[in-house]
Amino acid sequence: KTLGLTDPQGRDFRYVRLSITDVCNFKCDYCLPDGYEKNGKNQFLTLPEIKHTAQSLAKLGVSKIRVTGGEPVLRKDHVEIIRTLKNIDGIKQVCMTTNGYKINDYVDQWKDAGLDNLTVSIDSLHPSTFNKITGHSILDDILKGLDRAVELGFKQIKVNVVLMQSFNAHEFLQFVQWVKNKPITLRFIELMQTGDNTEFFNKEHVRADSLISQLSLLGWTAIKKSKTAGPAIEYEHRESIGNIGFITPYSQDFCKTCNRLRISSTGKLHLCLFGDGGFDLRPFMQADQPQQNLISELQSVLGYKKDSHSLHDNISGSTKHLAMIGG
Ligand code: GTP
Ligand code: 5AD
Ligand code: SF4
Repeated sequence: KTLGLTDPQGRDFRYVRLSITDVCNFKCDYCLPDGYEKNGKNQFLTLPEIKHTAQSLAKLGVSKIRVTGGEPVLRKDHVEIIRTLKNIDGIKQVCMTTNGYKINDYVDQWKDAGLDNLTVSIDSLHPSTFNKITGHSILDDILKGLDRAVELGFKQIKVNVVLMQSFNAHEFLQFVQWVKNKPITLRFIELMQTGDNTEFFNKEHVRADSLISQLSLLGWTAIKKSKTAGPAIEYEHRESIGNIGFITPYSQDFCKTCNRLRISSTGKLHLCLFGDGGFDLRPFMQADQPQQNLISELQSVLGYKKDSHSLHDNISGSTKHLAMIGG
């Protein structure tokens, strides 16, 4: 019997999102509109700390790790991190979420290192709008890299889109059309209110429910979710190779089936995207510490996990922006 990671509500955690840096080079309007602000020097988790932590998590039944940022690819050793995670006994799936900045340079190396699933954020299919949102005019490069990823045959490729009223909301149907011939899953994420973006949120938030109704009218049907699936609800269409998903913290409540934990780039365990400041587990993550100590800490911190996130009460908690914990 594997000893598990279970919270007081009986939710079981086999999936951890691991941020390896909070630095990002993009300036997405909803996240880091002024760019990354350097606050002293952050010491990010080292490869030995990451390995020790992932081994402990695997002993607790975690089988999937998603590498996130900031922008994870800005770390020079990110390929080695992927390789190390993939070689750990019990870790069956290694995934990464990136803004796509270096996708062309690295996608072959990611594949070679054993990356299973790749998620790229692409908020617009128009170069000028993409530039306006992110501050970078590299949409064409990213789309090329995405094609290469398809060619290489990752188990799953996903694209994240945050629709915003005055930026890209009108591109909704174009995005839907775009996946028709692509073996990818495109997910629309409802803009979330964080500590830093309150005003922006009030102005730009687009609810997913009316978009979902539009899709239904076009013949898209919901795919039955497995009990352990994440928050996205996915839709398929007989004439489309790609699927469409929605992550809807506002129009639907998915907290009851929350299946993920988050570790920040400096070793804090976050029980939710919103509402907790993180539990500092770094002292236990040192490679010379007994693995059992980290395992016991992880299990005891889980006792604090709340029923649901604070967005339902219109509170963004202590999360200033999602680059802090990697979404
Ligand atoms: P998987 O599909 O789970 O493998 O990972 P992914 O990064 O491809 O997508 P995921 O569904 O985990 O997350 C995409 C984005 O949705 C995240 O970056 C968050 O912004 C948002 N999201 C994911 N999980 C949660 C959650 O538990 N609560 C809230 N409010 N938002 C979430
Ligand atoms: N609301 C919704 N999605 C967000 N992301 C970052 N900040 C927010 C927010 N405030 C998304 C990014 C990326 C993923 C990691 O998180 O677009 O796809
Ligand atoms: Fe960077 Fe992602 Fe935040 Fe955009 S959303 S600024 S890519 S961390």
